[in-house]
Amino acid sequence: MVDLFPPPSDDRHGARQKERFRPHRASQLDDPARFEYLPPGEVASLLDVPAGGRLVDFGTGTGTYAIELARLRPDIEVIAVDELPEMLDRLCSKPLAATLSNLKPMLTGEVTALANKIDRLLALNVLHELGDRALRELGALLKPAAVAVFIDWNAEVERPAGPPADHVYSPTEARARLERLGWTIVLERAFSYHYAFCARKSQHHG
Ligand SMILES: C[S@@+](CC[C@H](N)C(=O)[O-])C[C@H]1O[C@@H](n2cnc3c(N)ncnc32)[C@H](O)[C@@H]1O
Repeated sequence: MVDLFPPPSDDRHGARQKERFRPHRASQLDDPARFEYLPPGEVASLLDVPAGGRLVDFGTGTGTYAIELARLRPDIEVIAVDELPEMLDRLCSKPLAATLSNLKPMLTGEVTALANKIDRLLALNVLHELGDRALRELGALLKPAAVAVFIDWNAEVERPAGPPADHVYSPTEARARLERLGWTIVLERAFSYHYAFCARKSQHHG
């Protein structure tokens, strides 16, 4: 079996924001205003997970969106993956999370078992943090026709929240990076403060 995401997991080569996410900022991930400018229902529509399918929320943080997606789609399995155990602890301490039998927290080191088994992948606000190697390896999780949805802060819009503009990508930069690292964009859309790309693994990248 392919060993996905082997250590060191702090390999941020290629990421615009090199430093690791700091857990003291975790409460910002639970800001209710996020659901106004990036509605979970619209994220669910973009993902369009097939009935009975399996979704990985890669870099789930405190599970803000993973929980909503699991709630909105009780027919699918939502696997909430993060490299930081303290993030998953925060997710598990949320009362709603405990009621969702289709939500499974998972540390990055365990995802190798999911290779070729995933119908959809969500990477929300993580493209600017992911190193090149991790971004390439994500493709190995997906079934052949599966789709990954990359949503991240848009460097080109004035925003009341999120990292500084020079820590994130413009849509043009994000597209170029994804295409360089083995992804074929099949759909692009804009939210108030975010860009979104739906992408498949490029054939020639294996
Ligand atoms: C800005 S937070 C976004 C969290 C969540 N997606 C959200 O929007 O609420 C980025 C998260 O990605 C995680 N992360 C960054 N690089 C990662 C990697 N290579 N593997 C797994 N998790 C990663 C961080 O630990 C952090 O929890």
